[in-house]
Amino acid sequence: MVASVIAKNGSGGKQMEIMRKGILLAGGANSRLYPTTRATAKSLLPIYDKPLIYYSLSTLMLTGIRDILIITSPDHLEAHKRLLLDGSQWGLRLSYIVQDKPRGIADAFILGRDFVDNSPSALILGDNLYYSSGLSLMLQTAAAQEEGATVFAYQVPDPSAFGVVEFDNNGKVVSLEEKPAKPKSPYAVTGCYFYDTDVCDIVKNLKPSERGELEITDVNREYMHLDKLHVQYMGRGAAWFDTGTPNSLAEAANFVHVIQKQQGQMIACPEEISWRNGWIDDDSLLNCADMVDKTPYGDYLRSLVNEKSFSP
Ligand code: DAU
Repeated sequence: MVASVIAKNGSGGKQMEIMRKGILLAGGANSRLYPTTRATAKSLLPIYDKPLIYYSLSTLMLTGIRDILIITSPDHLEAHKRLLLDGSQWGLRLSYIVQDKPRGIADAFILGRDFVDNSPSALILGDNLYYSSGLSLMLQTAAAQEEGATVFAYQVPDPSAFGVVEFDNNGKVVSLEEKPAKPKSPYAVTGCYFYDTDVCDIVKNLKPSERGELEITDVNREYMHLDKLHVQYMGRGAAWFDTGTPNSLAEAANFVHVIQKQQGQMIACPEEISWRNGWIDDDSLLNCADMVDKTPYGDYLRSLVNEKSFSP
């Protein structure tokens, strides 16, 4: 099974099909969260009612991607497999590979080269959480871009903690810097990246940075120099969290709690996304509900099959 995104070509409504693979990076030492992550992976920590990794996985699923490589540290491979299985319960095909030590985000394309196998790809960091109306459209538009790279920019109060993108007056990208001491703009580059088939070769020729990592910002800068970097600005209506600190974990959990309580709908529920995408049927959804027992999460899944009203 290979993921496909059907995109309408604006000019004549002609359909094109792009096979795009997903990589979810959930390794690293995560020492900024010690002692919490001394014995477990950050991606398995709860964000309100579900593990953190569900949010990034759901983002790939909303893009339409079903063939996904999960990269974990050696200590946490088995736990990830116990949680996510082979993905077939959600209509996915999940594969796993370990990163023996954190060599940088771009290392995903060294480890994932065989998996990517000359397909276009999307990489998401396992600690990123996206929420906005129009998110699926934004992701699917990026996925439909055949050439170059697409990243998302989001305004933050302290950009020095992130990759930072600077635009000129015409909106053209003029610089990209990783965690600059003096950021040239308030726009962080978020942790979801869409690449064409050149990315593995670009990463192969990359040199580690001063801190000894293969930097994803260096990959994006290469696309910028080739004039093939698209930066999609995420406006005020969107929420983006990089849950790298105790504060951001708590804020993300509060955010999910409040929105879900107000709307009675779940954020980042892989079972629901799969069911709404038509990747699993009612019976499979009910089986998924049984796997989480008599919890509010399970009750929510059971309630979906009884949903009679129009759902936009
Ligand atoms: O979240 C967006 C930011 O993510 C971007 O703005 C930055 O440009 C990008 O470098 C990255 O910065 P972070 O400081 O957040 O990266 P961090 O080292 O925390 O890694 C992000 C996730 O990726 C984290 O959950 C651990 C995982 N990871 C990281 C590295 C370096 C790995 O699995 N392996 C690695 O080698």
